[in-house]
Amino acid sequence: MTVPDLQKCKRDRRKITVVTAYDALFTRIIEQAGIDVILVGDSLGVVVQGRANTLSVTMGEMLYHTKLVAGAAQQSLVIGDMPFMSYQASADDALRNAGRFLQAGATAVKLEGGAAVTDRVEAMAKIGIPVVGHLGMTPQSVHQYGGFKVQGKGKDQAQQLLNDAKALENAGAVAIVLEAIPAELAKSMTETVEIPTIGIGAGPHCDGQVLVLYDLLGLFDDFVPKFVRPYAHLKADALEALRRYKEEVEQGKFPSDSESYH
Ligand code: KIV
Repeated sequence: MTVPDLQKCKRDRRKITVVTAYDALFTRIIEQAGIDVILVGDSLGVVVQGRANTLSVTMGEMLYHTKLVAGAAQQSLVIGDMPFMSYQASADDALRNAGRFLQAGATAVKLEGGAAVTDRVEAMAKIGIPVVGHLGMTPQSVHQYGGFKVQGKGKDQAQQLLNDAKALENAGAVAIVLEAIPAELAKSMTETVEIPTIGIGAGPHCDGQVLVLYDLLGLFDDFVPKFVRPYAHLKADALEALRRYKEEVEQGKFPSDSESYH
């Protein structure tokens, strides 16, 4: 999957599948399933590092996980998620940090925000760095929202998001993630721009969907938003396996003779 392939998916009305990954093992499994795009999301701050939000994730941590994923990926397009304060303070910072993601093996970077970041997007696009925008409930602004809340509900907010989507497209973004916004608004945004929209909690009309891998697999259940569909229950399976292991070791049933060397 390449950046031009993404645009073709939208033209051909073929839905784009995206999931997050943070390591080589899951990257290989995701590729075997034929998923189009892997996002090395700063959601790793929550699902891997156990924090309450994504704000403490650093460039060093993102680059480390990007290298693990990009090193294992052979077909899927890998997007590196720019962490908090890696692009907000200055355009210069933004450009250099975006470049570091490509050097770590990503094909594109993602950053949050609309009109406020279009100068960054434009600068990156100009030097050949594909950029994915992220609008709606952007987790790096969680404190401004007062929590993880659906955005774009009022008329003015909805219009602002439509304008932001257009501004990102004009700045050269190659796709836009739409997070936690009403499905009708996501539909209008998808129809307004020619670049693909990738929804998460944004209804069925986007050009593609993204889920956090550990949510999709039912591994992370500290907080399960309404838009998550767990396609497996791996936390329950893991718990069951670990409990059985403990029981069988304690009862002397593991290892058996055939699991021992002689
Ligand atoms: O960090 C992440 O995983 C994301 C997705 C939820 C879109 O930004």
